[in-house]
Amino acid sequence: MRTERRHGSLAVSIVLLTTAVAAVAVLLTGLFAWRTIRTNAEAQERDQLARQAEVLARTPPLAGLLLQRQQRIAGPSGTELALVQPSGDVAGPSTEVVGPGLRKALLAGEDVSATAVLDGREVLVEGVPTRTGGGLVLTQPMSDVDAATDRMRGALVLPLALGLGGAALAGALLARRLARPLSSAARTAHRLSAGERGLTVPSEGPAEVAELATALNSLDAALAHSENRQRDFLLSVSHEIRTPLTTARGYAEALADEVITGDEVPEAGRVLRTEMERLERFVGDLLALARLEADDFRLDVDEVDLDALVEQAAAVWSARCARDGVDFRVERPAQPLTIATDGFRIRQLVDGLAENALRVTPAGRPLVLAVRQDGAGARLQVRDGGPGLTDADIEVAFERGALTERYRGVRPVGSGLGLAVARRLATRLGGIISAAGNAPEGGACFTVLLPPRPDGPGGSA
Ligand SMILES: Nc1ncnc2c1ncn2[C@@H]1O[C@H](COP(=O)(O)OP(=O)(O)OP(=O)(O)O)[C@@H](O)[C@H]1O
Ligand SMILES: [Mg+2]
Repeated sequence: MRTERRHGSLAVSIVLLTTAVAAVAVLLTGLFAWRTIRTNAEAQERDQLARQAEVLARTPPLAGLLLQRQQRIAGPSGTELALVQPSGDVAGPSTEVVGPGLRKALLAGEDVSATAVLDGREVLVEGVPTRTGGGLVLTQPMSDVDAATDRMRGALVLPLALGLGGAALAGALLARRLARPLSSAARTAHRLSAGERGLTVPSEGPAEVAELATALNSLDAALAHSENRQRDFLLSVSHEIRTPLTTARGYAEALADEVITGDEVPEAGRVLRTEMERLERFVGDLLALARLEADDFRLDVDEVDLDALVEQAAAVWSARCARDGVDFRVERPAQPLTIATDGFRIRQLVDGLAENALRVTPAGRPLVLAVRQDGAGARLQVRDGGPGLTDADIEVAFERGALTERYRGVRPVGSGLGLAVARRLATRLGGIISAAGNAPEGGACFTVLLPPRPDGPGGSA
């Protein structure tokens, strides 16, 4: 609302602008026409007067007759006549305007067009030579020109006023068409920011404004979707935290009440430690994800030999697999494969994927850790002989908690953050992580493609 006041309303601006533009156009047209009308009116009257003079000059008897009777040519127009004889004598009511110059021109056979004063009034003067060697002069009051000018100017005012009114009206209609859907969109945006969801902005008005409504509608849907996911995530987080807490609290109470004593104490301590470790790991993952999603995550980039890195990881994972009877294999290039990356984060990625694979791979089935050159970069793979992933699983594999929720109770699961962390890590390292359900070993296959250096967004920090 404050913004609206500061900038002025769009509707008022459009109406003011269109009206102002129309007013300028009307003013210029009016000014030009005002002056032209006067000139044209005078030219028209003069032309008419000259034609009358010519007709009279061609019929001298008529002119003489008019002169003898001292008549006016036409009653109300007040046209007066004067005759110049070949001798130079002048007769008639408008004799006053026939000066020596005019008389001389007429006697020389020239047409004369002038303005003069007759009986104290300004008149138009038109003179033509007659066939007899003299001349004929007609005068007409200038007031006739004024009257014609006023008539024409009067006729001009209405269309100009209509043009101005029409422009203001068109401006108002345009403003309404633009401003209404815009304010409706703004109202909806305010309601969205106040937390309301499920709102629909009607797609009306010009294409760009309708596009805004469509964008707001999809923003509403996206917000609702993301908030639902957030809620589900919080529910699963609290569930995840509550289980070890309940266990720990049970053991703590049993210890305090001396229900557990003697030889049972170390075992209770071990259970407590395992639960605390689970909590610790979960909180660590949460923190990692939060930091990966925020911008304060920094990479420690260095020249890393991936062959050596995989060799170290293989030492750990072959021992763990041996414990579970899983057939661990490693595929290495057996020569240095060096890229610029963050070795610690790569190891974190490999361990997370191997942990998942080991959890679902039955004894006797294979688990493969593979690394090889891929263009200028490298390709890391963790494959297993476990139950694998369906196409539907692959679609949501990297959404936090999605697969864990799907398989809770079906196969062993963790806290549901591992793959979401893995994707964020791979992206930060400038790489791409993908999942497939058809490893040659029969189970899932997770592939990480790494560039020669993490130059992408978030990289080389
Ligand atoms: N190699 C795999 N084969 C089959 N299922 C897998 C595989 N890797 C992951 N999954 C499934 O995907 C789920 C999600 O894995 P993710 O690593 O994101 O979370 P998690 O392992 O459950 O918990 P966390 O890694 O945070 O301890 C797993 O619980 C598991 O059901
Ligand atoms: Mg995991």
